[in-house]
Amino acid sequence: MKSIMPLAMKLHVGPTVNVLIALRDLHFDPRIWDKPNDFNPERFIDERGTLKNIEHLYPFGLGRRRCPGDALAKSFIFIIFVGIVQKYKICLSNGTLPSAEPVFGLISAPNAFSANFIPRKQTL
Ligand code: HEM
Repeated sequence: MKSIMPLAMKLHVGPTVNVLIALRDLHFDPRIWDKPNDFNPERFIDERGTLKNIEHLYPFGLGRRRCPGDALAKSFIFIIFVGIVQKYKICLSNGTLPSAEPVFGLISAPNAFSANFIPRKQTL
């Protein structure tokens, strides 16, 4: 049995077959994404600030085993991130941007980097 199948291949999937989607391959496929290794938020955000270009973006997987924590994770990330940037201005501490090279593990993580968190003036 082959463990890796190209997406375009037609095959019969029986009820006991586990199908794993190679999300990293999908998200870094140069046939889908222009310069897939570049960090480029504008790839997904249009001039009005709404999401675009997400038809091949599956951070939470897809199908019946899609992540059930999707909505919770998105709200949590939004609340935490907004809470931080409301209170702090984040600046480079040594003038160098963090490396875009991931550290691979169970999930991809960023390389260690340092940044300065400068408290914003509180206006009540
Ligand atoms: C940014 C945060 C998260 C990301 C990127 C993420 C991503 C994923 C992905 C890619 C899968 C595999 C889907 C598949 O097999 O196709 C998954 C599965 C799962 N996730 Fe998440 N997840 C996140 C947060 C959470 C949270 C907050 C919870 C629970 C509170 C959660 C619970 C689960 C569970 C239970 C599964 C297994 C689903 C199954 O196999 O039926 N995840 N997640």
